[in-house]
Amino acid sequence: MARKKITVVGAGNVGATLAQRLAEMELGDVVLLDIPQTEGMPAGKSLDIMESAPVMGYDSRLTGTTSYEATAGSDVVIITAGIPRKPGMSRDDLLKTNAGIVKSVTEQIARYSPECVIIIVSNPLDAMCLVALKTSKFPKHRVIGMAGVLDSARMRCFIADALSVSVENVHAMVLGGHGDTMVPLPRFSTISGIPVTELLPKDKVEAIIKRTRDGGAEIVKLLKTGSAYYAPSASAAEMAEAILKDKKKVLPCAAYLEGEYGVDGVFVGVPVKLGERGIEQIIQLNLTVEERTELLKSASAVKELSVALK
Ligand code: NAI
Ligand code: 2OP
Repeated sequence: MARKKITVVGAGNVGATLAQRLAEMELGDVVLLDIPQTEGMPAGKSLDIMESAPVMGYDSRLTGTTSYEATAGSDVVIITAGIPRKPGMSRDDLLKTNAGIVKSVTEQIARYSPECVIIIVSNPLDAMCLVALKTSKFPKHRVIGMAGVLDSARMRCFIADALSVSVENVHAMVLGGHGDTMVPLPRFSTISGIPVTELLPKDKVEAIIKRTRDGGAEIVKLLKTGSAYYAPSASAAEMAEAILKDKKKVLPCAAYLEGEYGVDGVFVGVPVKLGERGIEQIIQLNLTVEERTELLKSASAVKELSVALK
């Protein structure tokens, strides 16, 4: 069986950590690309990661490059190119700079890997997904945003911690845009099938929801020089695995909505089924009026940003 090919664009904190994770998971051969100004950096990081292969026991090959030719024929392309947040900056402050970057990257990706599935990581996430969709002209199921897996992972972590239970027992569902209006859903967050609302008092659940919403900012405040990358890279790797192995895994991801949940023409985080074709199904939850109102509020915040881009 031919090996899968995965390109990671942007060899910074998220991109390089992601390349390492993809290789260690033996999901395929990995091409790590950055801009020409970075000279040997992507090649150096790729070689360094590959030299750990004999110790870690994997046979994935890594190539570091500044040229898109090396990315040709990729099955999955993950775009992490862009500038990250600094303290005091919101994800939305990154809008114009990263839109230009994501547009130029997507043009090259669509040219060299016209059949790939694109996973967007660059922020502001939901608006960058729209840039990639419009630029690539790919069908909507092949452009997906990574946010919900990360936000849910943070929520899972906090729930597991509060209850002193294994993180493996905890599932969480965070929908909406990847920003301050994200919608953590305790009703759909469970510990071995038991809703978290049965096991934790309301004030504790509220505190977890708030910490989840502020999860990105909490890390930025601590790091001071950039934003999170260990949990983000793990989240993007889980999505890539679901696609490359055709797992049909249900995960919260940013998807282009055309009427689902009453939202039209923007990317918003919703539960989707991920398989080899990308998004194979958008799952529509029966939301309460309150949950639905929050989701619509989040979708209009995303829409405002997307309009600002035009
Ligand atoms: P970083 O600064 O460490 O790395 C970004 C890399 O992109 C740099 O190496 C830079 O040279 C490269 N780059 C810039 N322009 C490029 C271009 N035109 N082509 C190729 N590469 C280019 O930043 P980090 O921490 O890796 O974050 C990357 C992006 O991901 C940021 O926008 C950040 O906000 C976002 N992010 C999104 C998350 C999410 O949940 N969706 C989570 C974490 C980060
Ligand atoms: C995060 O949530 C900055 O979006 C990034 O960590």
